[in-house]
Amino acid sequence: MFKKAIVSAVLALSLTGGAAHAAGGAGYVKDYDFSFEGPFGTFDQMQLQRGLQVYTEVCSSCHGLKYVPLRTLADEGGPQLPEDQVRAYAEFYEVWDPLLYDGEGDFRPAIPSDNFPEVTSAGAPDLSMMAKARAGFHGPYGTGISQLINGMGGAEYIASLLAGYTGEEKEEAGAVLYENTAYPGGWISMSPPLWGDDVEYIDGSPTDVEDLAQDVAAFLMWTAEPKMMARKEAGFVGVVFLSVLSVLLYLTNKRLWAPVKARAKGMPAE
Ligand code: HEC
Repeated sequence: MFKKAIVSAVLALSLTGGAAHAAGGAGYVKDYDFSFEGPFGTFDQMQLQRGLQVYTEVCSSCHGLKYVPLRTLADEGGPQLPEDQVRAYAEFYEVWDPLLYDGEGDFRPAIPSDNFPEVTSAGAPDLSMMAKARAGFHGPYGTGISQLINGMGGAEYIASLLAGYTGEEKEEAGAVLYENTAYPGGWISMSPPLWGDDVEYIDGSPTDVEDLAQDVAAFLMWTAEPKMMARKEAGFVGVVFLSVLSVLLYLTNKRLWAPVKARAKGMPAE
């Protein structure tokens, strides 16, 4: 019984490990240091705000974030914009409201309770969950230790992808493909979106391609896992609680069995 459990546990580990390896695939992913890695890592609020700016000014023309409610931009642990800025930001987007004009529907400016709009025109995938969909390049696959310390790799993959263009391009079946060292297969149909200095940060942070790529990758990690900080906190509280509980149980156990042990040794019980 016990043996069987061990065998299936090992099997399960090696299976998920294999999947993670396959997802990482052929591309080269650089191990960037993100503030949210590690058991105590947290999102860098300023970086999330910069990443939001890159997304808005560069990526949003092709990519939507349809699962992300605009109001969450004000959430603690996220970009944490002031409420009035979220309202002003939301108005940049137009959303379809089917209830307007007695059910005929019309476009109206978005409000914080709307989600970021969906964008389908460019044939580009939605980015809401991308950082988790592409997670899992970090080895040694399956043990979970590396993932705990180095993060899951989705943000690194996105940053590597954006900074991984070689400048080579080719035409295949009428479509232009761009060589990219991070993309599995090496050729992607997204033209290089970042060239450096694409946006101007008000805090004067550097705007090289790799800086912009890391900022927007961090922002996309947040869209994919907005509650990461709360989750880590809860995990930490859980570990502390369980440690204290184990000590108490150990002491209780010793106490309970003390008379029995004493008797077994031939000594009189207390
Ligand atoms: C001109 C339109 C356009 C812009 C601007 C653009 N993308 Fe893309 N993106 C695409 C298309 C098209 C694809 C699908 C590529 C493919 O499957 O070959 C894509 C794919 C992706 C992927 C998925 C790659 C994968 O592993 O499947 C990511 C991540 C991504 N883009 C991130 C970004 C980010 C971040 C920005 C902003 C810095 C951005 N894109 C700007 C068109 C665009």
